[in-house]
Amino acid sequence: MTAPRQLFVTTALPYANGKFHIGHIMEYIQADIWVRAQRMLGSNVDFVGADDAHGAPIMIAAEKAGKTPEQFVADIAAGRKQYLDGFLIAFDNWHSTHSPENTEISQAIYKDLKAAGLIETRTIEQFFDPEKGMFLPDRFIKGECPNCHAKDQYGDNCEVCGAVYAPTELIGPYSALSGARPELRTSDHFFFKLSDPRCVAFLEQWTKAGHLQPEVANKVREWIAPGEDGKPKMGDWDISRDAPYFGIEIPDAPGKYFYVWLDAPVGYLASLKNLLGKRGQDFAAYMAQPGLEQYHFIGKDIITFHTLFWPAMLKFSGRKVPDNVFVHGFLTVNNGEKMSKSRGTGLDPLKYLQLGMNPEWLRYYLAAKLSARNEDIDFNAEDFMLRVNSDLIGKFVNIASRAAGFITKRFDGRLGVVTADGLALLEQLRAALSAVKQLYEQREFGKVVREVMQLADRVNAYVDQNKPWELAKKEGQDERLHDVCTTCIEAFRILAVYLKPILPKLAADVENFTMMPPERFDNVLEPLGAGAQIDVYQHLMQRVDVKQLEALFEPPAQAQQAPAAIKDEASTATTEAPGGEPLAPVITIDDFVKIDLRIARIVDCAAVEGSTKLLRLTLDAGEKDDAGAPRLRNVFSGIASAYRPEQLKGKLTVLVANLAPRKMKFGISEGMVLAASHGDEKANPGIYVLEPNEGAQPGMRVR
Ligand code: MSP
Ligand code: ZN
Repeated sequence: MTAPRQLFVTTALPYANGKFHIGHIMEYIQADIWVRAQRMLGSNVDFVGADDAHGAPIMIAAEKAGKTPEQFVADIAAGRKQYLDGFLIAFDNWHSTHSPENTEISQAIYKDLKAAGLIETRTIEQFFDPEKGMFLPDRFIKGECPNCHAKDQYGDNCEVCGAVYAPTELIGPYSALSGARPELRTSDHFFFKLSDPRCVAFLEQWTKAGHLQPEVANKVREWIAPGEDGKPKMGDWDISRDAPYFGIEIPDAPGKYFYVWLDAPVGYLASLKNLLGKRGQDFAAYMAQPGLEQYHFIGKDIITFHTLFWPAMLKFSGRKVPDNVFVHGFLTVNNGEKMSKSRGTGLDPLKYLQLGMNPEWLRYYLAAKLSARNEDIDFNAEDFMLRVNSDLIGKFVNIASRAAGFITKRFDGRLGVVTADGLALLEQLRAALSAVKQLYEQREFGKVVREVMQLADRVNAYVDQNKPWELAKKEGQDERLHDVCTTCIEAFRILAVYLKPILPKLAADVENFTMMPPERFDNVLEPLGAGAQIDVYQHLMQRVDVKQLEALFEPPAQAQQAPAAIKDEASTATTEAPGGEPLAPVITIDDFVKIDLRIARIVDCAAVEGSTKLLRLTLDAGEKDDAGAPRLRNVFSGIASAYRPEQLKGKLTVLVANLAPRKMKFGISEGMVLAASHGDEKANPGIYVLEPNEGAQPGMRVR
């Protein structure tokens, strides 16, 4: 027997500035299925993840949240477990790039690269925010697009015309952090010399020798191919940032930190080292195992980092390089626009769990759609319900429920003898074993599902031919009934083993029921056998209820719009919604001026009989009627929970003066006064009526 394969497997490390969204969960499910399948093939696997905790966006998000970055990322980390456990994603370890292991390994790699002559210092000019006292990442500089003159565009590209430029080309640049006009300052930066001929030669060889997906390998070859100047198209890589920065300090360079993308992939090794430490195993010895295979599951947006920088960093620091990088496409929801990372739109994974939806439905559905290619896939609610209810449950789970009852009631829970036609059927199922194993190995999970469903069709055809429910009513057919039902249970078990990486919980329930825990795919070759005892059948899985899907996609009451997010050069992750509510879609100044806001005096204020919510306000907004007499307005406002009438009488406030009058139960409301409240009023009660600074007069326009 050959020694088992030793695999080290990771998924991309999510930025620690937001909750998991369904795209993350898809990546973890894909990797988890592969890892479970590898184990059932006999491989030893260590499967790790971690939070990507560093970088300017996280530092800034923490500041906004009024937390230290350490506390901020720790709070995010504390929220991870419920998702991972909930979707049966069995990482062996979850760590953080903000960890002693990561500091140690990142600094060691850097020193080795420096010793190899691949680190160079260059002086660069960069925008500096004099108010914040920091150099600004491109994404934090805004200004007018030099091409189409759209206002408020990011420092690296224009979202209106798509032009790509340097932040220094912006017209009237300003800091998105402070609004200050940034100054150009020089700073020494460290570069990793990716254009060095050694790196290029290595990457050429690595893309050829490796098993990269063809479309990924082609991309890499394009990047390393010489441009017009004879140098590779990819330039050298700026790996340093100036303080203040939340990251890892560069050795012997005070005030300089590694750019987050340098230490992020090192986090794979840091998480592994942390895991091995807990087990008392030696990291260096582990990495030195000659047969060790290293695989990274990632999305298509971060290919460069994983197929250029990361392998080259490892190679020239004298470390093991990845054996492969498995790239997947993006998940969209209900044909929605690409679920951009900045907008957690679509399907909220936590809500899915909270609604009591079965995690294995999602695992099955995604598996059915996944292939080894990096294509986008769409979650479609109708398709989801159809596949789960008619395939997973209708074709597969039903096999057990159609047969198990008879075994329990008529045969004391013992299996019988399978005869010729049953044996032939089971033989067909077993004949698929090598195909199933190979498809898992190749990450062709959609093909696995198709294969297994075809086999399930055959089993169901056998059931329909033999009609156990009729056999059960006929005299002298006991033996045949036993034979047919035993065949069904044996068949069901084989299919459950085939689906085990996708449906680990269901497979475990089947194992309990058949009292046979198959650890390997090869176990399907052994039948449970005549006389084997099975447990009383418990229903294994519910159907998807359309009401659950409706609830899942019902937009939250307050937050119908996606939050506007802060984006960074590397990340486009979201920050918490301010005030408990995401920002509304962008409007232009033309939209804004349509709203006529006026200062108004609350000349009278009274309770409204029959309403606990409303107060009746009498407002003077400086208006006169045709005869020149003051015109007062009557406005109902839902602020009775926060104010007694006498608290407001005589005060100034802001009125939406051109709102169409509205007939209410208590009279006509002629406008609306402005008040602040939190998006989640239950958790954060309180309503605050706006009051202008001293000097404002009724009738003045607010703009
Ligand atoms: N922090 C970096 C990765 C560092 S790896 C050393 C990052 N984080 S991320 O949170 O933005 O993305 C994490 C992973 O989720 C990436 O592989 C990314 O491609 C994947 N996805 C993000 N949105 C996705 C979808 N809509 N669909 C599928 N995967 C997506 O990038
Ligand atoms: Zn433009």
